[in-house]
Amino acid sequence: MLARDGTEEAAGNAANRMTVRQMGFAYPQTMSGHWNAKRPEFSQIVNAASLAMPYLEPYLIRTMRLARAQIRDEALRRELDSYVSQEASHYRQHRKFNEELKARGYRSIEKLEAKIDASYKRIEASGSLASNLAYAEGFESMALAIGEMLIEDRDFLFGESESGVASLVLWHFVEEIEHKNVAYDVFEHVAGNYFRRVGGFLHAATHIFLLTRAGYRELLKEDGLWRNLRSRLALARLLIRIFWKLTPKLVRILVPGYSPRQVADPAWALAWARLFTKDGEAAGRLDTTRLDQREPVPHAARTTA
Ligand SMILES: [Fe+2]
Ligand SMILES: [Fe+2]
Repeated sequence: MLARDGTEEAAGNAANRMTVRQMGFAYPQTMSGHWNAKRPEFSQIVNAASLAMPYLEPYLIRTMRLARAQIRDEALRRELDSYVSQEASHYRQHRKFNEELKARGYRSIEKLEAKIDASYKRIEASGSLASNLAYAEGFESMALAIGEMLIEDRDFLFGESESGVASLVLWHFVEEIEHKNVAYDVFEHVAGNYFRRVGGFLHAATHIFLLTRAGYRELLKEDGLWRNLRSRLALARLLIRIFWKLTPKLVRILVPGYSPRQVADPAWALAWARLFTKDGEAAGRLDTTRLDQREPVPHAARTTA
C-alpha cells in the first residue's frame, strides 16, 4: 500500500489534497446549445455527457457509501467522504447546466434523461457491491484519462467558447484528477481483483460511450446537423482526434498493476487549484481566449449583472 500521508506530494502527486469547492458559473441568455460556436459537434458531445452526470454521479456516491462500512482504514474513509462531496457538487452543477440546455428548447432531453436514469437503476439493482465498485473504479480511471486529454487539448476544444461552460467542464475534470485514487483504493480494499477491475472498466467505458453517442445524436438531430455532411465529417474528424489522444491513456488501464498513482497530475490542473485558492470566483470564469497559456487566466471580473 502506498502511504496516504502526504509523501506522494513529494513526487509531484497532489491527488490526496481533495478540496470541496463551491463554484458559480454564468450562462448568458444569448448562449445557444453550441456554446462553442466553432465546434457545434464538440458542444453536443459535452452536452450529452453532461446529461448523464445527475444519474451517474449519484450512483457512484451510493456505491461508495455502501462500501464505506467495509473499510477498516480511517484515512481511506475520510478520502471517500471528500470524494462523495466533490461528486455531489459535480452533479448539482451539471443538473443546473442541463436545465439551461432544456430552456434552450431541446425536446429530446427529457427522454434521454429517463433512459439514463433507468439504465443506472438497472445496473445498480442487478450488480453486486463488487461489480458496482468495479464500474465506479472503471469510470474514475476513464475520467482521469479524459481529464488529462481535455487539459492537454484545452485550447483546441474550448478555445474562444463560452467561459461558463468551459470553466464548468475544466473544473469538473481538475477535481476528477484530484480524486483519481479514491475509487481505485476503495475497490482494491473491498473487492480487488484484476479481471473484475478490467471488466468494470470495459463495462463503464462502453456504457458511457453508448449513452453519450445516443445523446449527441438526438441533440444534433434537433439542430438539423445529424444529416448534414459537413457536420458529420467534422464530427468524425473530432472523434478521431479525441480517440487518438485518449486511446493510449485508456489502454494503460488494462495493464495488470495499473494504478492511477502512476499518472502525473497535469501542471495546468495544479495551477487551476492554485488559482481557486487565490480567487475562487475567478476560477469559474476562465478566459477561453488564453487557454494556450501554461496556467489558467480568468476573465476580468463582471461589473454588471
Ligand atoms: Fe465528477
Ligand atoms: Fe469522479
